[in-house]
Amino acid sequence: MSSFSRREFMRRSAVGAAGVGLLLNGKWVQLEAAPLPLPASPNDRVNVGFIGFGIRGNILMEAVKQTGQANLVAVSDCYQGHLTRAKERTDGKIDTNFAQYKALLERKDIDAVVLAPPDHQHLPIVLDALAAGKDVYIEKPMTYRIEDGPKIIEAARRYNRITQVGSQGRSSALQKKAREIVASGQLGKVTKVVASYNRNSSTGAWNYPIPPDLKNGVNFKWEEWLGNAPKHAYDPERVFRYRKYWDYSGGISTDLFVHLITSIHFIMDAKMPSSILAAGGILNRKDGREAPDTLDALFVYPEEFNVNMGSTFNNASTPEQGMEFLGTKGSLTLHGTSFSVAAENPREGYSYSIDSWPKSLQEEFMGMGNHREESNPAIHLEGTVTYKDQTGDSTPLHLLEFLNSVRSRQECSENAEVGHRAAAAGHMVNLSYRSGKRMIWDAASGTAREA
Ligand SMILES: NC(=O)c1ccc[n+]([C@@H]2O[C@H](COP(=O)([O-])OP(=O)(O)OC[C@H]3O[C@@H](n4cnc5c(N)ncnc54)[C@H](O)[C@@H]3O)[C@@H](O)[C@H]2O)c1
Repeated sequence: MSSFSRREFMRRSAVGAAGVGLLLNGKWVQLEAAPLPLPASPNDRVNVGFIGFGIRGNILMEAVKQTGQANLVAVSDCYQGHLTRAKERTDGKIDTNFAQYKALLERKDIDAVVLAPPDHQHLPIVLDALAAGKDVYIEKPMTYRIEDGPKIIEAARRYNRITQVGSQGRSSALQKKAREIVASGQLGKVTKVVASYNRNSSTGAWNYPIPPDLKNGVNFKWEEWLGNAPKHAYDPERVFRYRKYWDYSGGISTDLFVHLITSIHFIMDAKMPSSILAAGGILNRKDGREAPDTLDALFVYPEEFNVNMGSTFNNASTPEQGMEFLGTKGSLTLHGTSFSVAAENPREGYSYSIDSWPKSLQEEFMGMGNHREESNPAIHLEGTVTYKDQTGDSTPLHLLEFLNSVRSRQECSENAEVGHRAAAAGHMVNLSYRSGKRMIWDAASGTAREA
């Protein structure tokens, strides 16, 4: 993203809609994302602060820049190296705050905050930000545990603040088109979704590098990083590879599944599964991690569809991330920046199923207008349409919606309610994985219980 300029983004976004080309067995349609607006004047821009400036915080800052709708005012982080990087990214202009995020929130010149600390810090920092009167863009998963969700929803209402949760995929032209196609009925009744997120590398499995200059008490503040998490001796492995440990993260389910869950809820227009059953384990990466390297989950939705979701860190021969929406009339298969829609052609015919009947009876049956040969193949590839989205990462669009909402005071599409449900489903996966029990969602009380 860093090398992906605003001009490039606009150029790609503006490429003609519905340009149609030929595929070997079908056609493709190029989707058009709404282009980013012209940059606002400094007075019309939203004044933004950043808390948590690691891998994601850096990407978010570049995306905020691309929107042209914000002034970058201040950034807080527990590692001095990340603050130096923030200075580098802003020609030295941004104010830096060494792990005193509450001081950043006290600043009256900041309207909104973009938050990307580790998951265990989401609740305290979001609640402090809302209480300080800031509108909040909070990275996914919105919560570290299910109970955190209603607290954030209630605080956003009490302080009348805008919230946007950072599963950016739903802001893409691709997912908006997929949602439109499902809603149109073109796929018939979609009763099954298959979704996956696979990797096979050490960094993909969250063994991120530890900066060689890291020194607790000098350029890093462990106690501030730890926040309300259980006390633990300083351990840089936990800081930079926190997704491996339950005290700070929910592992695969809340890091990766949450993206898929958010997208499936959006595309299927569903709110929340009624039950989830999960299984998995640390099957290969026995490097001291607590969270599984392989996880599979079955979600049952009251809208009469099931989701079969899986992830492994030990094989990436299938596309890293994908979703298949399987309907009675067609399938929509989404991988990366494109999806294909292929018509179903159900095999019908009575070959083997009447072979046990006496010959004369078979002939009589055929004479009644029935046919013996099954239609073949099941899917007509020549009818396939592939939709491509060349916009790239949809994070700028997702942030643009947030910044527009800060000014218009209209709800964002992925507000705290939406973010809570996606994260809660992710937490239910972990509750099931860890207990071995199927988890049931009680919509009335907004809680999960074992079946
Ligand atoms: N939407 C996406 O595609 C996407 C991608 C990556 C990460 N994320 C999310 O972003 C969040 C951060 O992930 P990351 O990979 O950037 O982690 P990271 O470890 O690289 O960065 C987190 C930063 O937060 C800082 N921090 C921790 N406590 C703090 C405090 N009290 N005050 C100020 N700063 C504090 C840390 O020092 C660190 O620099 C996670 O919730 C993750 O799920 C989202």
